[in-house]
Amino acid sequence: MKLRSIELALPHAAEAAAFLTDIWGMAPAAQEGETHYLRGSGSYPYLVALTEAADAYVRSTTFVCTADRLEQLKRSVTAAGLPATPTVSKDLGGGHGIIVELAEGELLRFLVDAEEVAPIVGADLPVKLTHVVFNSADAEATGHLVEEALGFRVSDRTKGMVFVRCNDSHHSTAFARAGFASLNHIAFEMADMDAVMRGIGRLRDHGMVPAWGPGRHGPGANVFAYFIAPFGPVIEFSTAVEKVAEDYQAGAPEDWTWPEGRIDQWGMSDKDFAGLRAAEEKFRHRRDWDAQSLDLINEEQA
Ligand SMILES: [Fe+2]
Repeated sequence: MKLRSIELALPHAAEAAAFLTDIWGMAPAAQEGETHYLRGSGSYPYLVALTEAADAYVRSTTFVCTADRLEQLKRSVTAAGLPATPTVSKDLGGGHGIIVELAEGELLRFLVDAEEVAPIVGADLPVKLTHVVFNSADAEATGHLVEEALGFRVSDRTKGMVFVRCNDSHHSTAFARAGFASLNHIAFEMADMDAVMRGIGRLRDHGMVPAWGPGRHGPGANVFAYFIAPFGPVIEFSTAVEKVAEDYQAGAPEDWTWPEGRIDQWGMSDKDFAGLRAAEEKFRHRRDWDAQSLDLINEEQA
């Protein structure tokens, strides 16, 4: 199971696409109708889809998996009673699978047979998405739900977050204890720490400074630099997230505390709490499909 892409709807999609290509450092992949697809240097056809709409919302966050894993998901999602539907992707790269709505409206799509593309070598692009984080009214409940309904695993709990993995990367998603449901931020994997620093410099060339960072987190130990994108959401350059073993012991909030005045390992950057919070309210979840039963293959047939 791998995190692949996020699909957003928003006003002025073309301007957002221009920011992500000209300043953030992505490459244009395609424009189809009202949707702009932006890619990184890795093998996914796109990482971010931006569809023109009257207001801003998250259409889906997409994972790719094997056919066997998809069949398991269909069973566990059905058993958990979550709204879901079979889906055929009309997005770049195609594929088919299911889309699921979690308890607070989060829309996760799981695809098989989605195409991959040749990596881009030698350019300073983000490689892929490394995590997409959501705000939750009850992050603890959502952590339990994704373990039960999706087979994800909680990696760590802190005072602010429940970190969740779907492979050996410490987290591909997380749920922030925010008191409301929305997109918290989108993190782009950079090739290494220098690529993160060059990214910060590129944004500085355009008069933008990090809303938080550079720094290095506790859980996951990844390097980060968060920015508030001109089109609304919080976006992050990240690198070097920890790989964890199957039997990784999930830490509790009391295992992840900081000395007075610190909220990351380096302690070199201020955090714009108010600005980040406002940006985190911009993209809510919106479902534009009706739930249908998933065609379950009998376990004997599977
Ligand atoms: Fe992050």
